[in-house]
Formats: sequence, structure tokens, C-alpha cells
Amino acid sequence: MGYDLAGRKVLVTGGSAGIGAALAEGFAARGATVGICGRRTDRLAEVLERLQAHAPGSRSWAVDLADLDAVDDFAARADEELGGIDVLVNNAGIPKRRWAWELTPDVVEQVMAINYLSPVRLTLALLPALVARSGRIVTISSVAARLSPPAESAYSASKAALTAFFEGLAVDLAVAKVDVGVHVVNPGVIDTELFSLPDNDESLADVEALPVTAMVEPVVAMLDAGTFEIYVPDWFTGVVPAKFPDTGAFLQGSADYARQRLVDLGRPTPAPTVAAQAPTGPGGR
Ligand SMILES: NC(=O)c1ccc[n+]([C@@H]2O[C@H](COP(=O)([O-])OP(=O)(O)OC[C@H]3O[C@@H](n4cnc5c(N)ncnc54)[C@H](OP(=O)(O)O)[C@@H]3O)[C@@H](O)[C@H]2O)c1
Repeated sequence: MGYDLAGRKVLVTGGSAGIGAALAEGFAARGATVGICGRRTDRLAEVLERLQAHAPGSRSWAVDLADLDAVDDFAARADEELGGIDVLVNNAGIPKRRWAWELTPDVVEQVMAINYLSPVRLTLALLPALVARSGRIVTISSVAARLSPPAESAYSASKAALTAFFEGLAVDLAVAKVDVGVHVVNPGVIDTELFSLPDNDESLADVEALPVTAMVEPVVAMLDAGTFEIYVPDWFTGVVPAKFPDTGAFLQGSADYARQRLVDLGRPTPAPTVAAQAPTGPGGR
């Protein structure tokens, strides 16, 4: 297959920190001109300085991607100012570690907006340009999309929707025999600020966190090989198929694991609010 990043124009959403910043630097070090976006201008400036040391034409935009009505204009601006995007990396996202019964509808919608609706809108806005340039679309989903870990239902659902959308897009482009590569990346636990953001419960994961730099080589190799989906670390690839012969048993195993983790961490077992019972006995039903 082969995909050389040298001379390409790459847009990485959420490039102000974490995985996005590491990927942006990795692409710039391989000769790509990289555009990054995020909300924090100070953090964007720090990353941009490192990108421009490799690729002087790199640039950044301060944008809130949760503002869905602004996504189309941002897409047009980024494509024009980068001089035609070859690779779109849908990376920006937020966690939501919260027991399902503690979620409110507005929180679920907020998670869907930034993790699912926004990257889909950005992709649709850029798709004609990507088709014209035989581009590549890399989407940072999550192992949560495949495994539904405890206390992450809203997050897992947003990532599962994201993965399903890009699976469908890959199929449709293949039907049309269009040369646009579609790729999904499922990080496991990567050491970023995602684990210390406010409005989230403490993570229950008991997996060694990899540094963000561990993401770069697998993503570059995926683009080069034309692989649809990868897991980082790679051993998650073997965990996912274990779910499907008996999904119920797999989910019960997740619950058992979470209960033990709560004990180990000295945290109470959670309990949903119980509705008041209707009176029973004489006169009751
Ligand atoms: N870390 C992990 O273990 C892990 C595991 C699985 C999947 N992932 C996924 O990897 C991606 C990157 O996460 P990370 O771990 O690198 O987290 P992070 O360090 O918190 O970085 C998140 C990035 O997204 C940007 N972002 C968030 N909300 C945004 C908004 N409304 N508008 C524009 N940009 C926004 C942030 O920029 P600003 O704050 O400057 O806006 C930041 O650059 C996410 O999609 C996440 O779900 C991470």
C-alpha cells in the first residue's frame, strides 16, 4: 500500500494536548505540514512552536468543536489556510466517567456532540476535498467502543457511534471505489490529562498507562499499511473477540472486575436512587 507523510497537509483536531499533540509532532517530524486546533490558545502556541521547528508552514486555530454550527466554516478555513488537507485526524474528545444513573440527558448530549457529531460534521465538510486529494481519515475512537467498561456508558456509546460511522463510511467509499483511506484507532490507557479532567469520577482502569509517544509509530504504520483498525497497546486486539461468543458473560466479568477494583481502591459500591414504593397491603396493590 504505502503512504508517505512527507509533504502532506494534516489537520489534527485536539492538537493542543495529549495524543493529538503527540501525533501532530510525529507527523511534522516526518515532513508533514500540520494544522492543529483546540480551545486553549496557550497550549496550542506551545505545540505549534514544536511543529514549526519541523514544518514552518504548520499553523493552529482556536476553536470550540462542540459548537456544531461553527464546524463547517472551520473546515473550509482550515482547508484553505493549510492549502488542501490530505489527512484529517479526528482526535478531539472528552471523557465521561460516571455511573449510568448519575448521567443527565444534557451530559449525554454534550458527550455525543464533541465525541461523535462534531467529527462526523467535520468529516462530511471535508470529504469532497479529501476525495479530490485521495486523502486519509484517521479517527481516534477507544477500546471503550468495543468493550463498554464500567462507569463510562455515555463515553462508550459516543465512541461506538463514531466507530460505526467510520466503518460505514469505509464500506460506502469502497462500494464507490474511491481512494480515501479510512482508519480507526482504539487507544487503551494513554497517560494524558483525560484522566484528571473535572466532572469525571476517578478511573477504575488497572492497566499501565502508555506515554503519548507510544501512539505515533502504530498510527504511522497503520497509514502506511492501509489497516482499517488498530489498538494501542496491541494486546487489546485479542481481548475484543473474547467478548462476542458470550456478551452477557463478558459484561458480568466487567462488573465483577469493577466491584473488586472498588474494594481495592477503598471506594463504596455505587447504588442508583430507588423510587419510593407505592403502598402495599390493604388498599394497596
Ligand atoms: N488517553 C487515553 O487513554 C484515551 C483512551 C481512549 C481514547 N482516547 C481518545 O483520544 C482522544 C484524545 O484524548 P487525550 O487522552 O489526548 O485527552 P486530552 O489530553 O484531554 O486531549 C483532548 C484534546 O481534545 C481537545 N478538545 C476537547 N474538547 C474540545 C472542544 N470542545 N473543542 C476543541 N477541542 C477540544 C483538547 O483541547 P482543548 O482543551 O484545548 O480544547 C485536547 O487537545 C480523545 O478522543 C479520547 O477520547 C484517549
